Amino acid sequence: MTDAPIPFSKPFRALHELAYLDEVLGSGHTHGDGPFTGRASRQLEAITGAPHALLTGSGTHALELASWLLDLEPGDEVIVPSFTFSTTAASVIMTGATPVFVDIDLATGSLDVDAFEAAVTPRTRAVSVVHYGGVAPDMDRVLAIASAADVAVVEDNAHGLGARWGGRACGAFGVLAAQSFHATKNVQCGEGGALLVNDTSLLSRAEVLREKGTDRSRFLRGEVDKYSWIDRGSSYLPSELSAAVLTAQLEAFDDIQARRHAIWDAYATGLAEWADLTGTSLMSPPPEAEHPAHVFWLLAPTGPLRDALLDHLRAAGVGATFHYIPLHSSIAGERFGRTPAPCPATDDFSARLVRLPLWAGMADAAVERVLDTVRQFRPVAV
Ligand SMILES: Cc1ncc(COP(=O)(O)O)c(C=O)c1O
Repeated sequence: MTDAPIPFSKPFRALHELAYLDEVLGSGHTHGDGPFTGRASRQLEAITGAPHALLTGSGTHALELASWLLDLEPGDEVIVPSFTFSTTAASVIMTGATPVFVDIDLATGSLDVDAFEAAVTPRTRAVSVVHYGGVAPDMDRVLAIASAADVAVVEDNAHGLGARWGGRACGAFGVLAAQSFHATKNVQCGEGGALLVNDTSLLSRAEVLREKGTDRSRFLRGEVDKYSWIDRGSSYLPSELSAAVLTAQLEAFDDIQARRHAIWDAYATGLAEWADLTGTSLMSPPPEAEHPAHVFWLLAPTGPLRDALLDHLRAAGVGATFHYIPLHSSIAGERFGRTPAPCPATDDFSARLVRLPLWAGMADAAVERVLDTVRQFRPVAV
């Protein structure tokens, strides 16, 4: 093989990153909560419609803040889809509360709303709604079920910046939502995240928990003349260096999204016939869910055929990959969680899933090569 490998993902390089980093280093304000943190936060509020965005060191940190803010404690339960990243659940057990794993919907890869409803008990304090690939479940139903049961909705919107459901931005539905700016995300600063605070009654405490348990944020705004330790907390804020990169990335958000959508559309169109011929399901979000072109996934007809397709793609230098191993049957999931009902869709989705390379800097020729390589694969006699 002579063609260079096509990576699964490659961090976007924004125009002003270096200039902004230079500005931060020259200013002497390299620690957190400087001007670039403010700029990135306002940009996030504009994109999501959330009233307040607080930058964090990671999406995981944002999820941890959400757990502390809900005052979860031992005996409490949080419903979590089994098909998600470890820290959707690890951020719950940190408080002593129990993650309760439920199944996903094969059509979206996100929460099965019936399974959520069936898993609610008097101990349920929250549901963590993961928008897999930025495809939200039926949020009208989620909000109605949660409200009837007095359950807080937290959105794990790590994948979903720019996603919408029913015309409303993902990240603005829950009382709290977590964003990730990890290197693999559409907008990235290496490691980074944000907590969106939609319930403004939680804002002042969120600031304290994020700033090592102190009211330093109020002090910096001149609202108090000194700051001190007043609550639990940790160091959840990123440095200005991260915020500077994030600001430059967010300024390029429309361009990033336009390119990612063009690639996503090329995959959907270019693989439709092959998918029909081979019994493959292509990611196809329902009309209410506007996805942000974070992933393009397909489901092979069987698990062994998925493995064979991945082998075929990798041998041709195409960096396709699987995704999460279900949490309900993981070592930590069995130890710390509860699984009230089987999760067959999660097991099936995880076993048959392939994600194709998708990054804003991908050239048309690379997209064509991915398409050609996929189409060469014949899982069944056709
Ligand atoms: C669904 C989901 N939630 C949370 C996270 C954690 O984000 P981070 O890596 O920024 O901590 C990830 C990471 O990719 C994720 O996929």
